[in-house]
Amino acid sequence: MRILAIESSCDENSAAIIEDGHVRSLVTVTQQIHQQFGGVVPELAGRSHLELQDVNVTSALKQAGVALRDLNYIAATCGPGLIGSLLVGHSYATALSGTLGIPLISTHHMEAHLWSVEIDRGPLPLPFLVLLVSGGHSMLVIVRGFRDYEIIGSTRDDALGEAYDKVGKLLGLGFPAGAAIDREAQAGDPRAIAFPISMRDGSFDFSFSGLKTAVAYKLRDEPQWAQEGKRADLLASFQAAAMQSILEKVSRAAKTHNVRAIAAAGGVAANSALRKGLGEIATQLGIEFAVPAMKYCADNAAMIGFAAWKQITAGILATALTVRPRWPLTDLSQTVAHSI
Ligand code: KG4
Ligand code: ZN
Repeated sequence: MRILAIESSCDENSAAIIEDGHVRSLVTVTQQIHQQFGGVVPELAGRSHLELQDVNVTSALKQAGVALRDLNYIAATCGPGLIGSLLVGHSYATALSGTLGIPLISTHHMEAHLWSVEIDRGPLPLPFLVLLVSGGHSMLVIVRGFRDYEIIGSTRDDALGEAYDKVGKLLGLGFPAGAAIDREAQAGDPRAIAFPISMRDGSFDFSFSGLKTAVAYKLRDEPQWAQEGKRADLLASFQAAAMQSILEKVSRAAKTHNVRAIAAAGGVAANSALRKGLGEIATQLGIEFAVPAMKYCADNAAMIGFAAWKQITAGILATALTVRPRWPLTDLSQTVAHSI
């Protein structure tokens, strides 16, 4: 079974070929135009997807040595995400599926991040706990099977990646700043500044806006922390406070829900401190641990095709007529094409 998958929910345009659950090719282009604005500009993102979409699909087909007539399914991100960006990829996929006469699978972006933990390593033992952390979402989910998810915690304000990006903006580190902060923090002292550790209230919810504000006040009151040499200490201290809050919750959630594995996915799952900390918790608890390869952490079409493959093998052929910019993971039912 060959699937052409398309991802265009935000500022990455990506196409992939998935064959029987294996990635045959993946082409991902991150739009650079947003850097100068310090955040994604929706209109520019949509226009850039228009330029990239067909080029990336053509490259993904070529790299896999697959022709359009060899495809059995098309999968495209239907939501959540930016409306204009989603429309470009999903409409392209709709047109192609109609032309080729093959089904379109309208895929949920966060569900695709969730299953990306299995792309390389195969099935994880159930139930497992997955931490979904990206620029737009932070969630703790218990997975008992395909389409059997319980969200036990989510962020009450900023997503974790958003907090990284906002701290990066305060320091002029460019956008997005997560990877740069991760790199620089490795050279710093995480005990240099005792930033507050949020949400130690027994819930599994997160909050990162207080931490971001604490960093802003620190820089306002003691600007020397922005200087070369001191900046790494500030960033390491920020990261340590963010990680402490997350790792305490993951550890407690894993014990409370008796899970057999811990996993993390989404852009921030690329973070070295997070990967290390989660791995240590899994080792302590004697359970399995999985994070996707770096190319499957950030937004990519391989995860879209992989999640679509899971759907198809579960017998769910859901085609949405249009995109769903807001689409909670708790509502995976979707508009199926009208019968004619
Ligand atoms: O999943 P993703 O590519 O896009 C969304 O769906 O949001 O996640 C992007 C986010 C950005 O906020 C970026 O700063 C963050 O992931 N990120 C990181 C790292 N690499 C990317 N955050 C912390 N450490 C990293 N190494
Ligand atoms: Zn994402």
